[in-house]
Amino acid sequence: MENSAIFLLQSLAAIHLTMTLFMYLVALVLILIYPLYLYITKPLNRIKRHGDLGYHFGTPELADKYRDKQIERLKRIRMKGDLPPVYPNGWYCIAESPQLAHKQIMPIVVFGEQLSLIRSEDGSVHLIDSYCPHLGANFNVGGRVVDNNCVQCPFHGWVFSAESGSCTRIPYNDGTIPEQARVTVWPVVERNQHIYVWFDADGSAPEWEIPSIDDIQNGQWTYKGRTEHEVACHVQEIPENGADIAHLGFLHLAGAPVGNDIIRIDLSDRAPSIAHKWNGNWSASNTEKHVSKMHLEQVLKFHGFDIPLSASKLDAIQIGPGIVHMHLDFGTLGKGIVLHHVTPEEPLMQRARFVMYSNLPRWFAKFFLLAEANQFERDVYVWSNKRYVKNPLLVKNDGPIGKHRRWYSQFYSDNSPRLLPDGTLSNRAKSVLEW
Ligand code: FES
Ligand SMILES: [Fe+2]
Repeated sequence: MENSAIFLLQSLAAIHLTMTLFMYLVALVLILIYPLYLYITKPLNRIKRHGDLGYHFGTPELADKYRDKQIERLKRIRMKGDLPPVYPNGWYCIAESPQLAHKQIMPIVVFGEQLSLIRSEDGSVHLIDSYCPHLGANFNVGGRVVDNNCVQCPFHGWVFSAESGSCTRIPYNDGTIPEQARVTVWPVVERNQHIYVWFDADGSAPEWEIPSIDDIQNGQWTYKGRTEHEVACHVQEIPENGADIAHLGFLHLAGAPVGNDIIRIDLSDRAPSIAHKWNGNWSASNTEKHVSKMHLEQVLKFHGFDIPLSASKLDAIQIGPGIVHMHLDFGTLGKGIVLHHVTPEEPLMQRARFVMYSNLPRWFAKFFLLAEANQFERDVYVWSNKRYVKNPLLVKNDGPIGKHRRWYSQFYSDNSPRLLPDGTLSNRAKSVLEW
């Protein structure tokens, strides 16, 4: 009787100890897993500034204090080629809607100009030249949004309507306001959670609209992350990638694990253990002249076998020179869109953005955006150093690069600014409302 009581007590103690250890183990696993969970479900926000990647400094690598000087030198000696005009006509993304709060002035650089993007008290967006016509102060540095949609200059307090451009108030003046007291206004539109400016070198009004994506507007597809890259190249080089089918199976063959740095990737390995299989085609639209389409099917392979859930179908609709709507279909996992924008900030400086809205699981969307950024950044290495070849030496299976160039040339006109050998422009970019 005594023995069985002792045995019972020992058993209870053992169970208690086991359960306590188990609880500690569970707590430890949760503590370790929680940060990982937070990481994979937080939307991606990957930003690569000019110089972060894309440049090679020889051996030994020049780093630290020599880095910026070497980048400047590489840019100085870079052969640019016989470039097309630098600012094609069309709509360009200048900001993402959530970046611009009410009553905020956001500095914008586009077409080599400093502009000020304004959100009024009631939410409307306006874009104006940054320099005050009075004595030239810059609204981006100390300007304020007042009277709903007006900007007050920080120097002497003159107030300009960001909607009409005209001066509405001079704090110390009791006479009439001079007629010339006005700032240039640029036409903008806010759509699909982005803000766009219209540019046309001949002063023509927009001939086409940016399609509205219903699933973004009605909230079916939610924000899933973004990437942003500054790329030192001509604006046309980036969309031309869509028609350059042959480079997919070379530069973009190896999967993300090998990285984005094309100096370190072994591009001679034609059978990497994780490899993309691409199948793509590009064509101009028959119905809308400013639209073209790339259809791309992709699957990731591990030693020749398909990796589950990795297959994707993509229809990339290029709308004018700077906007691409990448419609994604991952079958049972979900659908979505990546809005891809390329905006010429300077003759050879582009801001490229990818922003995803989808019903895909958050971890999967993050994986996709990271993998896409990895491939895009390999192109950045090429774009940041190449020269533009006006008459490329094309062979069979190179893809419809010539057709793409003919299609894209519709966005250039006689007045389109050209980069001259001395680094200046043939003519300044100006708002179509200035004509
Ligand atoms: S410079 Fe702007 S108010 Fe004088
Ligand atoms: Fe590419």
